[in-house]
Amino acid sequence: MRIAVLRETAEAERRVAATPETVKKLIALGATVAVESGAGDGANISDSAYSDAGATVDGRDATIAGSDLILGVQGPDVGGLRGIKSGAMLVAILSPFARREEINTYAASGLTTMAMELMPRITRAQSMDVLSSQSNLSGYKAVIDAAESYGRAFPMMMTAAGTISAARVFVMGVGVAGLQAIATARRLGALVSATDVRAATKEQIESLGAKAIFVEAVKGIEGEGSGGYATEMSDEYKAAQAALVSSHIAKQDIVITTALIPGRPAPRLVSDAQIATMRAGSVIVDLAVESGGNVEGSVVGAAPVVHGVTIIGHRNMPSRLAADASALYSRNLYNFIAAFWDKDAATVVFPADDDIVKGVTLTRDGAVVHERLATAA
Ligand code: NAI
Repeated sequence: MRIAVLRETAEAERRVAATPETVKKLIALGATVAVESGAGDGANISDSAYSDAGATVDGRDATIAGSDLILGVQGPDVGGLRGIKSGAMLVAILSPFARREEINTYAASGLTTMAMELMPRITRAQSMDVLSSQSNLSGYKAVIDAAESYGRAFPMMMTAAGTISAARVFVMGVGVAGLQAIATARRLGALVSATDVRAATKEQIESLGAKAIFVEAVKGIEGEGSGGYATEMSDEYKAAQAALVSSHIAKQDIVITTALIPGRPAPRLVSDAQIATMRAGSVIVDLAVESGGNVEGSVVGAAPVVHGVTIIGHRNMPSRLAADASALYSRNLYNFIAAFWDKDAATVVFPADDDIVKGVTLTRDGAVVHERLATAA
């Protein structure tokens, strides 16, 4: 089986879908690997590092020609897959709900496509979970970005010239990104508090040495839906949460928001009126900015200053740590391929009735087959 690794073409995308380490591992399985020249540039991996690992390195057309499985970070347009074999497989973060037209075109071109971000959250798939591997880095980087923009220090410092007080950091949404944001802000010496709608996170927040800020005693709270994800909250809950956040946020220097609800726009957690109560020079990082934003006034790819508060809305946060993000993402891909590798046939075999395969497969045999896409059509 020939596996191709493409150079990413999307704006602000510096990651790559294989590293020399995973190229070697794929070859050890029995695959041949072709890498598009320049694929590793954004992650500081040279063409020669890939050829030293055993891959052939060539232009795009030559890389795609004859390949059975294409690995990407984001999904290429079908135009960017010129010369691809009919029946070839494409595995990447394909954003099927935002790129419905492209998914239809993949199907029409006879491609089998798999969206890694739809990986089911089951124990067997943990090492293939790209949302976790990338969100963890986003949570870290959000705090570093905030620290860079904040005109003060994070830790308390007692000096001969007087004492500097510790920064107060508030993390809203305590999934994978939020937990790493809490841990990073704590390591930098901040006083950290955090909130979530899922009651299970309270203990996790406290175990990291942060203060849990929770809406208590409101009826109709479910908080946690399937797969450990959050659900949309009742209006009563939303009002109680807004009141709680209003009293807390005015005392915060840094706010990091990470709240997402699968298949829905991100919940709005911070209003313009609440931002106006924060001290000038405070910083908000909205990690949900690309899903509609948790913060009023956040802008994708920009950092507007509103009421003296900088609202950072970086696009594609994991790509800002491209080397680490690529290393983890490529291991996720390798683990996925290795789990379905047929040694005797020296090829990958994806059984259609396997839960992982069902969870990620978007198109096969000329049709869109994913349940959630079929119902969203
Ligand atoms: P996510 O990225 O979907 O959302 C981030 C956080 O925002 C979540 O904690 C969510 O509860 C919170 N949130 C949503 N609406 C909110 C609101 N209105 N106010 C405050 N917070 C709100 O979540 P992520 O990071 O993908 O994790 C979701 C769950 O999946 C967690 O329980 C995590 O432990 C679990 N998980 C399971 C894995 C596995 O079993 N393989 C792997 C990774 C995560």
